[in-house]
Formats: sequence, structure tokens, C-alpha cells
Amino acid sequence: MKKLMLVFGTRPEAIKMCPLVNELKSRPDQCETVVCVTGQHREMLDQVLRVFGVVPEHDLRIMKAGQTLFDITCDVLTKLKGILESERPDVVLVHGDTTTSFAAALACFYLQIPVGHVEAGLRTRNVFSPWPEEFNRQAVDIVSKYYFAPTETSRQNLLNECKGPDGIYVTGNTGIDALATTVRDDYKNEHLDWASDSRLILITAHRRENLGDPMRNMFRAIRRVMEVHDDVKAIYPIHMNPAVRKAAHAELGGFDRLRIIEPLEVIDFHNFLARCYLVLTDSGGIQEEAPSLGKPVLVMRDTTERPEGVAAGTLRLVGTNEDSIYCAFTELLDSADCYLSMSKASNPYGDGKASIRIAEALLG
Ligand code: UD1
Ligand code: UDP
Repeated sequence: MKKLMLVFGTRPEAIKMCPLVNELKSRPDQCETVVCVTGQHREMLDQVLRVFGVVPEHDLRIMKAGQTLFDITCDVLTKLKGILESERPDVVLVHGDTTTSFAAALACFYLQIPVGHVEAGLRTRNVFSPWPEEFNRQAVDIVSKYYFAPTETSRQNLLNECKGPDGIYVTGNTGIDALATTVRDDYKNEHLDWASDSRLILITAHRRENLGDPMRNMFRAIRRVMEVHDDVKAIYPIHMNPAVRKAAHAELGGFDRLRIIEPLEVIDFHNFLARCYLVLTDSGGIQEEAPSLGKPVLVMRDTTERPEGVAAGTLRLVGTNEDSIYCAFTELLDSADCYLSMSKASNPYGDGKASIRIAEALLG
């Protein structure tokens, strides 16, 4: 029987790996499934584990305040070594582009343990944007044996880099598997009641390369637009990074139509997404979730590795310049045509069965 180990550590990895954990655990006659979390995130990771009922076999507990890329890389690499040596999994599955995923894949490479990359093949081809994620995902793909590409575009990216076609599987994105279980018609929430008389804007921001001026620019543009649109309210479930919190409270605090709240549990966030008018974000995962819900997204970044959502018309890249965000946000609020053209639901990231396809690829 195969022993499969899944290693992950942040909120988005957990949201996209827990459906796979549960799929694999439902096949005890076919494989042994071991979960190791690095704890790169703590509260935001634990929220997701609770929702999906996943109890990890190992927890490296690495998170510390102000952690650097050096801290995360070194701590994951050294702490994972002993666990890999004692568990000796047949395959280790990592996800996406975080430093947890990169360091875990590197540890497997040093111990010559095969790696399966979930959400393989996304590319901007600029290792500084998003930073350090583009490097992380390319590095994981260098050492992987199995590639679980969410779309045909990501498969093609891998083929262009001469990755062996036999190891590549187009599965859809496991994030859509999660979304299929969370959105409910009868969902209620006090924040949504507060915003029910207005158009609701959902905001998130956290990217490392946006800390500092770019993030301040985003927040200033959002505030300026909201000040002249009094039929709009905003909810901003804020990331736990203290640098993000400081900038957000400085630029957006004290504005009564904008609520900064603690990170939402994924069930709540998905239902907020399903009910909002539009989204402003620099997140990766939200770019995948919003198209299937038909919610326009202004992506406050210079690049995206998710061209499928741009092609579908749901995502618009608006950069991190204050005026470009101000203009795009204003246009989307003022032009019904622009709004309609961006709010058609489409499903470029799969049918919610990615975890089943990955399990079948691994277990035959
Ligand atoms: C990480 C990933 C990024 C991913 C993001 C998702 C890397 C380098 N970055 O970035 O790719 O998009 O997660 O959110 O892998 N913190 C807490 N509690 C938590 C989580 C974070 O207090 O539950 C605080 C800590 O002070 C921590 C800081 O946030 O030091 C930054 O966390 P970190 O994982 O280093 O960076 P993210 O920006 O979250
Ligand atoms: N999310 C959540 N609660 C929140 C904000 C986001 O559960 O308060 C979810 C969101 O639905 C998506 C994921 O977290 O699945 C995105 O995480 P994040 O933006 O932190 O990381 P990224 O996707 O950019 O790596």
C-alpha cells in the first residue's frame, strides 16, 4: 500500500489541500495518508483545519512574528528532515507556491523522495512578481515527479519547459472542490445585514512585494473612491501580518462605511464572496474562486499567473498605482456595461472534482 504525505502550512494551501486530504483518507484500503503542517501560518491555518476536520499527524510549529524567508526556509527544511526519515513516504504532495512548499520539496529532493505538485505549472515568468512565489513554484516543478495542473494552460507551461508529459495530469483546481462545499443559499451574517442596503465591496491584501508604498496606494485609492460613492460599503477581513494591519488602519481606519474585521473562516469568506458586488484583492486563490461565482475582481498586482480568469473577463489587472486603481474602481462602479461584462460566471478552474482526479492518478 502506498504511503502519501501531504505537507502544507498557510491558509490558502490548507483550503486547497484539505479536500484532497479528505479524499485520500476516504480510501484507507488504497493508501495510508499522513498530514504534516509546517505551521507557517497559525491561527489562519487552524481555522481551515477546523472547518475541514483535518487533524495533522505532524505539526512543525514554525511561525514567528516578523518571520523572514530565511526563517521559513531553514525551519521547514531542518524540521521536516527527521519526519521524512521516520515516515519514509512513497510520495510527498505539496501545493502551489509558498515557501513551505519550496522548502518541503527541497527536503524531499535531498532525501530522494518523489514529489507531487498540486497546482503545478502556473507562471508569470518574472521571479520578482509575485515574490517569492514565482520562484517557489518553478523550483518545486524542477524537482517534481507528478504535476497536477489545474488547467490546460498550466499543462502547456510545463510542456514548454520540457517536463515529461506522462507525469502531467490536468485536474482542475482543488480550491473549486472546496468552494462546492461552502456556499449556501440560506447563509446569514451580521456584517452582510449591515451592508444589505448598499453595494458590498470585499477587500483583501497581503502580498510581500506590495508591503510599503504599493499597499498604501491601494488603500488610498479605495478610500478616495468610496468617499464619493455613498451607496457603497466595504468589508475587509484583514490578514494577520502586522505590517498589513498597520498600513490598513492608518489609511482606512475611522471610515464608517468600511469595516476592517478579523480573517473570516473559509465558509464565511466564500459566502461573502458569493454575495458581494465586486472584489479588490492581490490574492491568488480569490482570482480562482471569483470567476465561478461571477464576481468582478480588480487584481491589485502588476502580473497574474491566472490568465484564465482574465480571458474569462472576470479579472482585470489594475497594478498598484493609486490612480490606476482609482480609475478602474470608479469605472466598475459607474458603468453598468463594464460591470455586466465582468460579472458573467465562468468556470475555468474545473468542476469541483480535482481531488478525485489526483487520487486516481496517484493510486491507479
Ligand atoms: C504567505 C505566503 C504567500 C501566501 C500567503 C497567504 C510565503 C513566502 N508567503 O504569505 O505566498 O499568498 O501566505 O496568506 O510563503 N501571521 C499570524 N498568524 C497567521 C498568519 C500570519 O500572526 O495565522 C503573521 C505573522 O506575524 C507572520 C506574518 O503574518 O510572521 C507573515 O506570514 P508569512 O507566512 O510569512 O507571510 P504571508 O504574507 O502570510
Ligand atoms: N480567505 C478566507 N478568509 C479570509 C480571506 C480569504 O478563508 O478572510 C480564503 C479565500 O477564499 C481563498 C484563500 O483564503 O481561498 C486566499 O488566501 P490568501 O489570499 O491569504 O492567499 P493567496 O491565495 O494569495 O496565496
